[in-house]
Amino acid sequence: MTAKYINHNFELKDQGTSNFVESDNFARHRWYYYKEGFSPNLVRSAIESRELTSEHIILDPFNGSGTVTLTAAEQYIPSVGIEVNPFTAFVAKTKTLNTNPKVLSKLFEETYENAILGRKYSQLEKYSTFTELSGKDKWLFNLDVLRSFYGGYSYLENHRSNASKMLRLALINSIMNVSNARKDGKCLRYKSSWKKLKFSKRDFLMEFEKQYRKIKEDIEHTIIKSSPKIYNSDSRSILKKQNLNFDLIVTSPPYLNTFDYTDIYRPELFLGKFISSSEELYKLRLKTVRSHVQAKWKTPKSDYIDSLILKDVYQRLMSNKELLMHPRIPQMVLAYFEDMKGVFYQLSQKANKHAHLWMVVSNSAYANSEIPVDLILADIATKHGWKLREIGVLREIRKRKTKYSPDIDTLRESVIILEKK
Ligand SMILES: C[S@@+](CC[C@H](N)C(=O)[O-])C[C@H]1O[C@@H](n2cnc3c(N)ncnc32)[C@H](O)[C@@H]1O
Repeated sequence: MTAKYINHNFELKDQGTSNFVESDNFARHRWYYYKEGFSPNLVRSAIESRELTSEHIILDPFNGSGTVTLTAAEQYIPSVGIEVNPFTAFVAKTKTLNTNPKVLSKLFEETYENAILGRKYSQLEKYSTFTELSGKDKWLFNLDVLRSFYGGYSYLENHRSNASKMLRLALINSIMNVSNARKDGKCLRYKSSWKKLKFSKRDFLMEFEKQYRKIKEDIEHTIIKSSPKIYNSDSRSILKKQNLNFDLIVTSPPYLNTFDYTDIYRPELFLGKFISSSEELYKLRLKTVRSHVQAKWKTPKSDYIDSLILKDVYQRLMSNKELLMHPRIPQMVLAYFEDMKGVFYQLSQKANKHAHLWMVVSNSAYANSEIPVDLILADIATKHGWKLREIGVLREIRKRKTKYSPDIDTLRESVIILEKK
C-alpha cells in the first residue's frame, strides 16, 4: 500500500463533509450537536455513487449520533446502525421517531411545568463534579439548573411515548448548553467566564423551549417512513453473532487519537440515567474500540502485525519512547488495528456481492511522527476481504503543535473507499 492510492483532488475535498458543523442546518440532524459526527452530505454522496434504492441495505457499525441511519431513512433506504454508547444510540434512535405535533405540544407543556417546579433533591447533585454541593471548586451545573432538569426528566420517566423520548433528548441538550464546561477535544473544559455567566434555571428553561420548537418544526415537516434498526452494542462482537447483510457501509470509527468517548459523554450518560455508577462506565469503556489508553483493555497479540507500514510505525514509536505522551501508546496503536482488522473481516463476511465500504478516518501524530492511519487501514482491509478503490482526501486538519509532536501541524482526514472482493 503506497501513497499513490491517495486522491488529493477528491470531489468532496474541503466541502465540510467530514464534520458535523453543517448538520446543524438539517432537520432532525440538529436535535443533538455531536461533535464527532460527519455530514449527511457525505452519506448522500456514497448513496448516489451506488445508486441505492429501497431494495438495498446500508450499515454503519460505528453509528454515533446516527447520521447514516437518519440519512438512509430520509431516502427510504433500510439501514442498520450499531453504537456501543447507550446515550448516542438513544440520540440516533430518537432522531428517526415520529409523533403527532399536538401530542408533543401537550407533553412539552406538562414537562415545562414540572421543570419550573424542579426537584427538591436530585441524586447527582453531590456526586463527582455535578454541582456546587459536591464540594469541589468547579462544577458542571449550577444547582437550580440540575434540579429543574430533573423536575422535567423525572416527569417524562412515567411516559414511554416517542414524544417523551424527543423531550428527554431536548432536556439533555438544553442542560448541556447551559453547562459551565464545554467539550474540547478529549476533555470537558470550563468556560473562561463560567462563574460570571451564572447559568440559571431561567436560562435552562429558555433553552428547553428553543429545543422543543426545533423538534416540533421538524416533525411537522418530515415524516420518517423507513425506521432503521439500531443496536446498542459492541460492533466487534455483534457483527460475529448477528445475521446481517448489506450493500453499502458508511462509517467513521473512533480515530486513533486517545479520545475516550465514554469520558467525553459522561455527563449525558449519568444525566439521562443510561449508567448509574463509575463501575458501569468502566465496563462500557472496555466495550469500545481500543483507541484510548486509560482503561486496562486486553493486550494485543504482540506477534500480530499484518501490515508493513504498521510495523514501521510501531518500531518508530518504540525507538522514540521518550517522546510519547503515554507509555501505552505503542500498545494502543497495535490494539486499534487489531480491532479494526476484526471489523473488516466480519464486514466482508456479511457484505453482499459488490458492496462498497466508505470509512472516514484521520491520521494521528505520536512521538513527532505522522501515523498514516488511512494507509494502514486500507492495507489491512485488502488482506481481509476488501479491494481498495481509492483514498479520497477530505481535508487537512490544522493541529495544535504539542511538545510531543512539535513538527506536525496538520493531519490528513480522508475517506477510504473499498469494494468487497
Ligand atoms: C466518529 S464517531 C461516529 C460518528 C457518526 N458518524 C455520526 O455522524 O454521528 C465513532 C463512534 O463509534 C462508537 N464506538 C466506539 N467503539 C465502538 C464499538 N466497539 N462498537 C460500536 N460503536 C463503537 C463511539 O461511541 C462513537 O460514537
